[in-house]
Amino acid sequence: MSSDSLTITDNRTGKTYEVPIENDTIRAIDLRNIKVADGDFGMMSYDPAFLNTASCKSRITFIDGDKGILRYRGYPIEQLAEKSNYMEVAYLIINGELPTKEQYKEWVFNITHHTIIHENMKKVVDGFHHDAHPMGMLVSTVAALSTFYPNARQVLDADNRRKQTYRLIAKTPTLAAYAYRHSVGMPYTPPDNELSYSGNLLNMMFRMTEPKYKPNPILERALDVLFILHADHEQNCSTSAMRAVGSSQVDAYSATAAAAAALYGPLHGGANEAVLRMLAEIESVDKIPAYIKKVKDGDVRLMGFGHRVYKSYDPRAKIIKEVADQVFEVTGRNPQLDIAMELERIALEDDYFVKRKLYPNVDFYSGIIYQAMGFPVDMFPVLFAIPRTSGWLAQWEEMLTDPEQRIARPRQIYLGSGERNFVPIDKRG
Ligand code: ACO
Repeated sequence: MSSDSLTITDNRTGKTYEVPIENDTIRAIDLRNIKVADGDFGMMSYDPAFLNTASCKSRITFIDGDKGILRYRGYPIEQLAEKSNYMEVAYLIINGELPTKEQYKEWVFNITHHTIIHENMKKVVDGFHHDAHPMGMLVSTVAALSTFYPNARQVLDADNRRKQTYRLIAKTPTLAAYAYRHSVGMPYTPPDNELSYSGNLLNMMFRMTEPKYKPNPILERALDVLFILHADHEQNCSTSAMRAVGSSQVDAYSATAAAAAALYGPLHGGANEAVLRMLAEIESVDKIPAYIKKVKDGDVRLMGFGHRVYKSYDPRAKIIKEVADQVFEVTGRNPQLDIAMELERIALEDDYFVKRKLYPNVDFYSGIIYQAMGFPVDMFPVLFAIPRTSGWLAQWEEMLTDPEQRIARPRQIYLGSGERNFVPIDKRG
């Protein structure tokens, strides 16, 4: 018997099975050999919300939730946030290695030269109501891109995938800025190829009548660091959506729209928006104890706190706090910061949060920075989706090139009614 195995005894039959262990994991499909009778379907594992199920093997992002470690392709997030930039990190995540100078130049050129969007897309955006949520607009316009690039359906062609990757990373900021400008009734600003990725987003969002927009270098860098921190986070809800939807071999735009839709929810990328709404609801520092009581009574959740994987301080939240100080030197201090810091102080000392290992996550402070930079609250999840696009695409590429992957199709335990005969409506009840 191999020592790298698990021995399972089925007490219903007294039979014993040996299941191989690889990477501290057993294959769920091996459980199917465990049957009471020969014709049985066999045993399955039951794991609602995938609390303990690995759906893939990945080489992209490593997280140790207990130690608060996050690495992209082996590089600690702290080093990348300090020394790299988002364009380089996007290359790293997608290609597995940091680029050489030549590779970097080509990568940036290819992304920069795909930022423009077909003029008809403006009509799509024009069709939205003035108060449409920008995330709803982003999800829809990303999906609409698939109609502009019908050959993107060739997802098994590596060159084709690469082309859609450039386009998606390049065009999401443009679509995001369109959504914002539409909501404030401003003319759309074209991309400026001389600016950096984050500088160009600021340009497309905030340029007024000046002939050339010059982003503030501190804000431009802060946005770039926030983009680095949000680039990937292994198998979270939106990435799982990207992989599951992409596994049907639909085009990258449709899969990315599905991932963005998953990100929109308040328990995921919508949390940064929810944090700001919560801070506004709390109003002032003296009202925090009453709010904490509501959280502990189970009436509300403390938004921006807690994480499925991190059971210690989210390393991204630590870096964001440093970025916040730099941003506030330019923009002035966001008054919400006092409420947030006091909320964090109280929560970190409170038994309810300590016992449940609830710490601030990446979204607790990101919204406060975005708000200070002039982004409206509605735009926060959009600002998350822009950099996460590179992570989604890296995971999509990995999924499509993994020979073990097939269309995602979970099983269920059926607990509904047994077979019964149809009853006509006048005979019911
Ligand atoms: N406020 C108060 N209590 C909380 C919170 C919170 N933010 N998060 C978890 N808890 C409590 C739960 O009520 C539960 O308590 P119980 O054991 O007494 O029932 C316990 O902590 C465990 O919570 P779960 O919901 O089981 O944890 P799960 O891993 O399923 O959820 C999640 C993780 C969704 C992030 C959760 O912590 C949450 O809702 N946080 C607030 C929303 C948020 O900030 N989301 C952003 C996540 S980061 C990101 O997506 C980028």
